[in-house]
Amino acid sequence: SLDQKVDSLLNLMTLQEKIGQMNQYNGFWNVTGPAPTNGDAANKYAHLKSGLVGSMLNVRGVAEVRKVQKIAVEETRLGIPLIIGFDVIHGYKTLSPIPLAEAASWDMEAIRKSAEVAAAESAASGINWTFAPMVDISRDARWGRVMEGAGEDPYLGSRIAYARVKGFQGDDLTLPHTIAACAKHFAGYGFSESGRDYNTVDVGTSTLYNTIFPPFQAAIKADVKTFMNAFNELNGIPATGNSFLQRDVLKKEWNYNGFVVSDWGSIGEMINHGYAKDGKQAASIAVNAGSDMDMESYVYVKYLEELIDEGKVDVKLINDAVKRILRLKFELGLFDDPYKYCNEERENAVIGSKENNEAVLDVAKKSIVLLKNKGSLLPLKKSGLKIALIGPLAADKNSPLGSWRIAGDDNTAVSVLEGLQKYSGNILTHQKGVELTIGKNAFITETKINTTNRKGIKEAVEAAKNKDVVVMVLGEYGFQTGEARSRTSLDLPGLQDELLKAVYAVNKNIVLVLMNGRPLTINWANENIPTIVEAWHLGTQSGNAIAEVLYGDYNPSGKLPMTFPKSVGQIPIYYNYKNTGRPTNPGNDIVFWSHYSDESNEPLYPFGHGMSYANFEYSNLILGATSIKNIDTLTVSFTLKNTSKYEGKEVVQLYIRDLVGSVTRPVKELKDFKMVNLKPNESQEVTFEISKETLQFYTANNKWEVEPGDFKVFIGGSSKTTLEADFSVTE
Ligand code: IFM
Repeated sequence: SLDQKVDSLLNLMTLQEKIGQMNQYNGFWNVTGPAPTNGDAANKYAHLKSGLVGSMLNVRGVAEVRKVQKIAVEETRLGIPLIIGFDVIHGYKTLSPIPLAEAASWDMEAIRKSAEVAAAESAASGINWTFAPMVDISRDARWGRVMEGAGEDPYLGSRIAYARVKGFQGDDLTLPHTIAACAKHFAGYGFSESGRDYNTVDVGTSTLYNTIFPPFQAAIKADVKTFMNAFNELNGIPATGNSFLQRDVLKKEWNYNGFVVSDWGSIGEMINHGYAKDGKQAASIAVNAGSDMDMESYVYVKYLEELIDEGKVDVKLINDAVKRILRLKFELGLFDDPYKYCNEERENAVIGSKENNEAVLDVAKKSIVLLKNKGSLLPLKKSGLKIALIGPLAADKNSPLGSWRIAGDDNTAVSVLEGLQKYSGNILTHQKGVELTIGKNAFITETKINTTNRKGIKEAVEAAKNKDVVVMVLGEYGFQTGEARSRTSLDLPGLQDELLKAVYAVNKNIVLVLMNGRPLTINWANENIPTIVEAWHLGTQSGNAIAEVLYGDYNPSGKLPMTFPKSVGQIPIYYNYKNTGRPTNPGNDIVFWSHYSDESNEPLYPFGHGMSYANFEYSNLILGATSIKNIDTLTVSFTLKNTSKYEGKEVVQLYIRDLVGSVTRPVKELKDFKMVNLKPNESQEVTFEISKETLQFYTANNKWEVEPGDFKVFIGGSSKTTLEADFSVTE
């Protein structure tokens, strides 16, 4: 059996070799900072050759991977192969939409397929482990890493976590096109104070269990092979050294048998946190707390032996960690063939294939959200229209690739200009409007939106005159979101608002296409611009996906996975908030209730919002019963009608409210959704089942339970639902 194989190998290993398996080194190319030049880094080769490295990250390409694997397999005493990790976040070479965008598709099959493509391409390039999916729930769009997650909701986040893990891993890890996944960052990283990356996190038990944990549990259901801990502290204890998280919850309560890798240098960073006095103590805290593999802190390889000798670390913990790591190596089939991911022919055939491009185009168009379409400027006619295409991102082939695309090549996206030309066969008038400047940041080419140069605004205004429609492509450049890209303003960066207003002054028929990695505060645009399309950073096939939507070849079906605020001052803003003791204007008192004196409580666009060229009418909500017993299921049905001349898809959403709880409950919680396709004038009866899973929550008893009492069920096309009914649950 697998356990026997692991045990017999473990029996052959020296303590040093065991510790080596718990050591992970960055390769010869560095993503998050300059390559270290200190003595520790200089030892990397020597360590590799003497079996003191269990895994490497950021080694990619068959030729490079083969080189390091050959050292591990042929030059070390036991020849234990390496696991090769890499941040395959939204595709490898053929890029999918950023994860937040994909979440907007609410299409689990498309999301799973996208992860499958990412796995196939990276596996063909020598990689067998991705540091994805990031399943952190976040309610703060200032945090740059919201682009990497599935948004604000634990239910949607859980469904997506499951789909992504299944996409990467499939059901059989020995297959050469599947790779191991990693649920990260455990835990609370998305709640960093004020959205500033790496910042302190302080959350209570209910939020931790009901909001933050569920997507991690869903990843375990999908059999995720690894976890990554987090940079942040949680309630005073760094996640990396947090034994409540890693030992009590993950490995005991959830009985998880995969392994936990630290985040980059996060064991060493416990010194900065003020939780360890030096590297040695940090190593001791981390291993005792359940961090199995040290990514780039160099402290396990350096101090674990000493710590065991001194009795500060029990060798049982080392054995446990190493077993977890070896188990995955066996499961991947690395002992049968350490070079199973190293085949140049496969590398050439799979990466960038036609099918992969088709798959990412499919999920890209499904990720687009039509925020507004007043006067029905969209869909555009393919001929006979005079169109001006304006904006710094209109012809950009780089920004649409988005952040976190380490293996993706610069300037390989289909631009909006190219997409519109291809799909219409027309040459468009194109003006940049506001010039772009290209700057270099350590390893990645960044396109920055200019903040001072007004050159081009005049030309853009001229180009917009006498046109039937102006398509303006504005937003954030590709690396304006992502790790360490927190912002305090969520307005359109630079001079883009000025450009938009100047063009609007001469032509009001504007279709605004937004490219961004987070919710933005586009109030003026929402009030004035008739049509707004949220196109995120959609990856390699961006321009084609956008063209399909603008020309109506694909009828938009995306729904927001995250609330768009009206202002940064409203953050954190999320649909599943608590009611408070003073939720509304009490009588005539206009002061003493939970609100702002200078802004409404309402978001700009609510969670779940997204339009179609079709119109959908919701009616006739019927419950199977108005009172059910704890364990019974309850049927909820309603009629959905397409009242338009367009065929279209609608994501119908079911929310509940538990009116009284031992821990107060949110005013609404998403609990199910379905995608319904309807032809013009077609209607359909849609049915949901409410069950124990729908109604339970982590109660004051510290258990997942259904608490009998009164509930509401809501149905609609967004979290601003249209239908509502009451029911109760009896003991
Ligand atoms: O996987 C990432 C993590 O999300 C952030 N720090 C670096 C890791 C490896 O690149």
